Amino acid sequence: MVVNAVLVAAGKGERMGAALPKPFLPLIGVPLLVHTLRNLTQSLLVTKVVLVIAIERESLCRDLLQQYGPFRASIVLTPGGQERQDSVRLGLAQLDPTCDIVVIHDAARPFIRAEVVERSIEVASAYGGALVATPARDTLKRVNQEQMVVETVPRHDVWLAQTPQTFRASLIREAHLRAHAQGVTVTDDATLLEWTGGQVKIVPGDIRNFKITTPEDWRLAEALLQGLP
Ligand code: CTP
Ligand code: MG
Repeated sequence: MVVNAVLVAAGKGERMGAALPKPFLPLIGVPLLVHTLRNLTQSLLVTKVVLVIAIERESLCRDLLQQYGPFRASIVLTPGGQERQDSVRLGLAQLDPTCDIVVIHDAARPFIRAEVVERSIEVASAYGGALVATPARDTLKRVNQEQMVVETVPRHDVWLAQTPQTFRASLIREAHLRAHAQGVTVTDDATLLEWTGGQVKIVPGDIRNFKITTPEDWRLAEALLQGLP
């Protein structure tokens, strides 16, 4: 079974508001992207990582891979697109021709653990799609435009999607190509597999695998890496 990963790092990092996109900012001295790459490649099942970056970051990225590598998988760079969905689609086009399973992961989630990656690979090979997620803990309220509560959403069957989202490569490639042809835009890859009628099963993850989105998230990540007092 050949397993590749698509690691998307081609966003602009607007909500972070820094001079460089998040993957290239140093997190306790090492670029965020390097933390994520090291953790993602802890699983030796992943033999190749397609790293999707903005074209203007290519030389910066090559320097960084040189400086912090080697990693435990081969890494190929490819340019991303306007939206995350475009970046994933472009990354999928660079998988090994023999790739059976693809692990799609956000560069902005450095705390991914090998055990979770491997569980997602098992589940994807059994069901077609695997979604790492955490159970909703807080009570969920649906509100109207004036932020008045309209209803309480039962929490027991609600999960919060993270990445990795892992799939049989042929299924997710087909779903992305079909969505692109029909102009369908969604926020994650599992939604596309659902849309084509595929099965997606939850892999329970942990809240530590949060996505770094804002400066506050960045400080939390630093605190976790430095060991909370
Ligand atoms: N991403 C990507 N291509 C895009 C948009 C996002 O590869 N066109 C990647 C980001 O680099 C990130 C992941 O998708 O690793 C999740 O996106 P997000 O956290 O939204 O990052 P950004 O889009 O960079 O941030 P923002 O939305 O604040 O601009
Ligand atoms: Mg974004």
